[in-house]
Amino acid sequence: MWALGFVLAWVAWTCAGNGPSDGAAGGAAAPVGGATGAAGGAGSGGAGAAGGSGGEAGGADGAAGTGGAVGCGGAAEGGACATPCWGCHGTEQSFAPPPDTDGNVGTTYRGVGAHQSHLAASSWHLQVPCTECHLVPAKPVWDPQVPTHQNGIVDLSWGPVAMGGIFDGQTLTCSYTYCHGTTLGPDPDGKSSIRTPQWTAVDGSQKACGAACHSLPPGGTHDPSPKCEDCHGEVIAAFAPDDPAASAWANAALHVNGKGESQEP
Ligand code: HEC
Ligand code: HEC
Ligand code: HEC
Repeated sequence: MWALGFVLAWVAWTCAGNGPSDGAAGGAAAPVGGATGAAGGAGSGGAGAAGGSGGEAGGADGAAGTGGAVGCGGAAEGGACATPCWGCHGTEQSFAPPPDTDGNVGTTYRGVGAHQSHLAASSWHLQVPCTECHLVPAKPVWDPQVPTHQNGIVDLSWGPVAMGGIFDGQTLTCSYTYCHGTTLGPDPDGKSSIRTPQWTAVDGSQKACGAACHSLPPGGTHDPSPKCEDCHGEVIAAFAPDDPAASAWANAALHVNGKGESQEP
């Protein structure tokens, strides 16, 4: 039964119509090791995707999804998906949105949000890989290493720099990530920083030097001296207090890298 379920789930794979909003309606996944392979719900619009993860767990569900266009090859093609990653989201240059799985491109859509501001090469912080926020499948269809892919839910799981985090699906804010200052002490009196950034507000406000992730310098037990380069010379070459964004970096790839490089002045 397992093998049958698996094949059915694979065949039922669809490319269109399995976005998070309409893909979650497959049958309930069989328990791990369960023997109910072919049994499953006939959900609409992408239940096939939900079926995929059930297959790995030991019993396929949602084998008979309807509503999604068949685009990833059926039995005739041996179940292989001819659709590249960017056939469903992102582009050939970046598999991350935009466009998201519904085709949206604007950053105010939650599927798009601040993806590219994190992923693009940066002059002031470590370039962020997908794996800081998601597990990434190596294969476009069913990757047994990442059963959460195409399960109808956008899964977030944090990497070694982010260290952890909570994405609030109602407010679309992110909290408790290292990158946005969660490990730092409270801001000094009269200063503030944004520890719960809004994923869909991509207007520059959440990367303003000194007002976004930490004050200059951070508060709490941190030394109050503003001469950052005295102690963080490996990271920053010359701090410009009057125009912090114009500061010269020694090695910007060490900024927001999960470690505090510091030495005695
Ligand atoms: C800084 C964290 C972060 C990084 C880095 C990141 N993502 Fe995301 N991703 C998110 C968030 C947040 C969402 C929206 C979650 C939600 O809607 O519940 C999301 C959603 C998605 C979605 C679903 C879009 C939709 O239509 O709902 C895809 C696909 C995706 N990411 C792919 C990627 C890929 C591929 C990469 C790397 C090239 C990547 N992401 C990097 C945070 C990130
Ligand atoms: C057949 C369509 C399709 C293909 C092909 C595809 N994805 Fe996705 N991907 C989705 C959908 C739909 C989601 C939305 C969330 C979900 O269902 O898991 C998603 C979500 C993601 C996410 C966000 C984390 C998650 O699992 O929710 C990442 C990262 C991702 N895809 C990477 C990739 C990569 C890398 C490839 C190519 C190796 C790829 N995807 C190929 C449809 C696809
Ligand atoms: C006198 C030495 C000294 C000076 C000057 C200094 N720092 Fe620090 N900083 C440290 C030390 C030591 C740590 C690690 C311990 C701590 O967090 O207090 C640190 C930690 C940090 C961290 C946390 C790094 C991490 O990854 O957790 C940030 C951010 C930071 N400093 C920013 C600044 C900025 C911005 C300035 C200048 C406006 C500055 N510091 C000036 C000594 C200094």
